[in-house]
Amino acid sequence: MRTYRLILTAAALCFAWLQIPLASADVGDLDENCDGCHGESGVSTEGDVPSIAGVSAFVLEEYMLEYRDRVRPCRESKYRSGDLDRPATDMCTIAEELTDEQITELAEHFAAKTYVPAQQAFDAALAAEGSKIHRRSCEKCHSDGGSLAEDEAGMLAGQWMPYLEQVFADYASGQRNMMEDTMKEKIDELDAASITALLHYYASLQ
Ligand code: HEC
Ligand code: HEC
Repeated sequence: MRTYRLILTAAALCFAWLQIPLASADVGDLDENCDGCHGESGVSTEGDVPSIAGVSAFVLEEYMLEYRDRVRPCRESKYRSGDLDRPATDMCTIAEELTDEQITELAEHFAAKTYVPAQQAFDAALAAEGSKIHRRSCEKCHSDGGSLAEDEAGMLAGQWMPYLEQVFADYASGQRNMMEDTMKEKIDELDAASITALLHYYASLQ
């Protein structure tokens, strides 16, 4: 009888142990939550929300960890689609509720989607000016106008202008860190007019 109970306990323990990683690896509902703001499959239709589809898994994972560690500003945001009664939240809170494994799986999930450049208005003369600045200071790491996921430097080409404008403001105020010191040197050299030109250049890459 005792042996029987022991076996049962052991089986229950094994089962519980198996259940935990299975439950946390379930990205199914989690990506639906992301889509509520980042758009279907991570292709954003909202200017202040970045597209995350097709960005490299390494970069997405890094960004989620930065939010979880609160070393990057998080802005409260309302949901944009699906159940709009869900309370507003922010990326730091969202990342805090995820395990390491879920963050990795979500990063891989969105990296496997197709990046779609945003359709947005831009000024052609400013874009031409921005193209020169980009080639001189940024192309080395953000090749092809910042359109290649394999550079592992995020997506600039076709990213939403209001979102990128916010990123430049966070860099200028020192609220957002940069992984590359070389990038910091280049960003620090930019004046307001150069930043505007760059924003129009990235918006022009559709
Ligand atoms: C309530 C809206 C909302 C939800 C839900 C949401 N996000 Fe975000 N996310 C944002 C906003 C707004 C930003 C940009 C502003 C900021 O940094 O706070 C952002 C930024 C990001 C970034 C940074 C992208 C970059 O290019 O720097 C990543 C990565 C990201 N979110 C992933 C996710 C994932 C994965 C989920 C689902 C687990 C998710 N988000 C759910 C609103 C949301
Ligand atoms: C030495 C390499 C390097 C150079 C030069 C560089 N970058 Fe970056 N950049 C990166 C890397 C790596 C990332 C991703 C990690 C991070 O956010 O720190 C990045 C991220 C970014 C992001 C954030 C994207 C997002 O989705 O949040 C922006 C915006 C950006 N770079 C703009 C620029 C601009 C504009 C220039 C030129 C003035 C530039 N970078 C030059 C390496 C570089």
